[in-house]
Amino acid sequence: MVDRSEAQTARAQNGLPPVPRHVAIIMDGNGRWAKARHLPRAAGHRKGVEAVREVVRVAGEIGVSYLTLFGFSSENWKRPETEVRDLMGLLRLYLRREARELHGQGVRLRVIGDRARLAADIREQLAEVEALTAANTALTLVIALSYGGRAEIVEAARRLAAEVRDGALAPEAIDEAAFSARLFAPDIPDPDLLIRTSGEQRISNFLLWQLAYTEFVFVETLWPDFDRAALLAALGEYGRRERRYGAITA
Ligand code: IPE
Ligand code: IPE
Ligand code: MG
Repeated sequence: MVDRSEAQTARAQNGLPPVPRHVAIIMDGNGRWAKARHLPRAAGHRKGVEAVREVVRVAGEIGVSYLTLFGFSSENWKRPETEVRDLMGLLRLYLRREARELHGQGVRLRVIGDRARLAADIREQLAEVEALTAANTALTLVIALSYGGRAEIVEAARRLAAEVRDGALAPEAIDEAAFSARLFAPDIPDPDLLIRTSGEQRISNFLLWQLAYTEFVFVETLWPDFDRAALLAALGEYGRRERRYGAITA
C-alpha cells in the first residue's frame, strides 16, 4: 500500500489528475445483473461482493484515503424477507472472510447507520473488525448499513436538543460545525466524489448532509461489473471537473 502523498506526487509527475481523498459509492444494479443472466438476485449480490473486494484493493493502491460504500439502506428493510436474509448472510460471510485481508491491507473499517436494527451477531462481528483494524492508516473503509441520511440528520438534531435541554449547549452555539460533530462519523471528511452505478440518477437517502459539494458521477455499469477500469474511468471524469464551491474561478 503506497503512501497517499507519494501516490499523488507520482500522479502529478505523470500528468494525471489528483485522486479524490474520499470516494463514496452507491453500489446499485445487482438485481438487474442477475436478471439479465436468468439467475436469482442473490447471485448478483454475491458477484457484487467480488466487486467490493476489487474496488477496496484498487482504492487503497491508488491513494484514496476514505471509501464509503452504501451496503444496505434504511429503506432496504422493505425488501422481501428472503432477500434481506441473503444480504445479511453475505455481510456475515464478507466480514468473516475479509477481516484478515482488510487488516493485512492496512484498511480501517468503520460502520455508519442504525446498528440497533442489525442482528446481534452481525453487530458483534462489526465491532470485532472495527477494533481489529482501528489503528490502520492506509484506507478507511466506511460501510453504510441500515443507513438513511435523513435518519442521521434527525439523530444529530435529537442529540443537540438533549444537550440544550441539559444545559450543556446554548442554542446560539449550534452552527454547521456543531451539527456535523453529531453525525455518525464526524471525523471523516465529506466525499469529494460520489459514484452511482446502474444508470440510476438519484441519491436514495445517502449522505444527504455530507454530499453538499460532492461531484457526482453516474455510470451505466451494473455494480457486479464495476472493476478497476470502471473505477479509474470515474476518477478520470472527476479529474476533469472544476470544483467552485460557489465562488468564481478564473
Ligand atoms: C444493489 O443492488 C444492492 C442493494 C441495494 C443492497 P440492487 O439489489 O438494488 O439491484 P437492482 O437495483 O434491483 O438491480
Ligand atoms: C440504494 O440502492 C441503496 C444501496 C445501494 C445499498 P436502491 O436500489 O435501494 O435504491 P432505489 O430504491 O433504486 O432508489
Ligand atoms: Mg437498486
